[in-house]
Amino acid sequence: MEQYVIKGGTPLVGEVEIGGAKNAALAILAASIMTDETVTIENLPDVRDINVMLHAIEGIGAIVDRIDAHTVKINGSTISGMLVDYEYIKKIRASYYLLGALLGKYKKAQVALPGGCDIGSRPIDLHLKGFRALGAEVDISHGLISAAAEHLEGTHIYLDKVSVGATINIMMAAAMADGKTIIENAAKEPHVVDVANFLNSMGAGIRGAGTDVIRIVGVEKLHKTQYTVIPDQIEAGTFMFAAAATKGDVMVKNVIPKHLEATTAKLLEVGCEVEEFDDAVRVVCSKRMRHTQVTTLPYPGFPTDMQPQMSVILGIAEGTSTVTESIFENRFRYVDELTRMGADIKVESNIAIIAGVERYTGARVSAPDLRAGAALVIAGLAADGITVVDDIYYIERGYEHFEEKLASLGAQIEKVSSEKEIQKFTLKVS
Ligand code: UD1
Repeated sequence: MEQYVIKGGTPLVGEVEIGGAKNAALAILAASIMTDETVTIENLPDVRDINVMLHAIEGIGAIVDRIDAHTVKINGSTISGMLVDYEYIKKIRASYYLLGALLGKYKKAQVALPGGCDIGSRPIDLHLKGFRALGAEVDISHGLISAAAEHLEGTHIYLDKVSVGATINIMMAAAMADGKTIIENAAKEPHVVDVANFLNSMGAGIRGAGTDVIRIVGVEKLHKTQYTVIPDQIEAGTFMFAAAATKGDVMVKNVIPKHLEATTAKLLEVGCEVEEFDDAVRVVCSKRMRHTQVTTLPYPGFPTDMQPQMSVILGIAEGTSTVTESIFENRFRYVDELTRMGADIKVESNIAIIAGVERYTGARVSAPDLRAGAALVIAGLAADGITVVDDIYYIERGYEHFEEKLASLGAQIEKVSSEKEIQKFTLKVS
């Protein structure tokens, strides 16, 4: 089992390049099987979740040609099966995007039902409601979701809750339905827009992505395209917060500053400086941060995927802060780990009340999920002494070369896989 070992206390200084957005890329890869022509996707992040999705696509018979770490060519003309196995869905829930993609293209699909997840219950009722509204018969039995239709018919769909996954899945199926579909109360996240742009580059007729009403005119066929995935706003935000926690000065490059507005606003509130450029942001934080209040909300609100990182910086800010999680009910599982590093946090229902401490103290902690794992690394970078983060498998699901990028900013961090290596690192840095 690999771990990160970190000696905290060094301000991060320098420049870091942000990769492609994992959550956009997952959906784009699924959508790429919707044409029989070859699709080229660039700026893919080389992370575990993406590789699982590529295997799932190969698993149904498509040709996947990895040109290099960040580029892939996919050809969906050889698809032989409509069944996406539990093997994939248990590793990444996002393989359910193949349901919308296969249903749109072939009018039938079978995908294993996603199991429980680490950040709370994550139903897919809205996805299924959308497919049914388009005319598909949807049935759940033996752990499988089966969806099938003679033909899909455009319709008016109101989503009871703002859902990124449901918006994208329904958009994919509707892109190849007969006639016009309107999705109301749609998610507005940048990756929803990116998937719409990708589908449109293949000939789809999607308008309004990025607003809460998406209008789709179905087409019979989609064609080849070459497409570059947008930068990852959560990876960018994570580095911005790492700069703040260590009182550093970091230029975060290859980003779309507009997508980072909620993150930037919170950094300004706590007293950091943020300078925006065309495709970069510079974060400078030279004094102790101040307390603030944060509530996670759908885009353009503060992203739930930045919530653990936010709590980590508020944990060492002056005064008492509150962080309210309004999207997923079980997203405070890192609090016990952070408490082991000296944090003073009480969780009541979906609110964390954070009394800022002077500093964290290095400890042995475990990553409970992807973003919380990254947040614990940030805490370790800011802490006195040595922190060991276990279960970094989760972090590698979504961050490419995380420790290398941090080390290039001056962080003292290494990936290790034995107690001996931890001791060696400790001797080296002491
Ligand atoms: C996506 C992101 C995830 C992010 C989340 C919210 C991917 C692969 N994952 O997850 O990183 O944290 O958006 O920005 O892109 N809901 C229902 N019924 C449904 C679907 C969702 O009740 O059918 C609820 C969920 O339980 C949750 C809320 O809607 O409370 C939002 O979830 P959703 O936006 O769908 O999240 P995901 O697409 O799963």
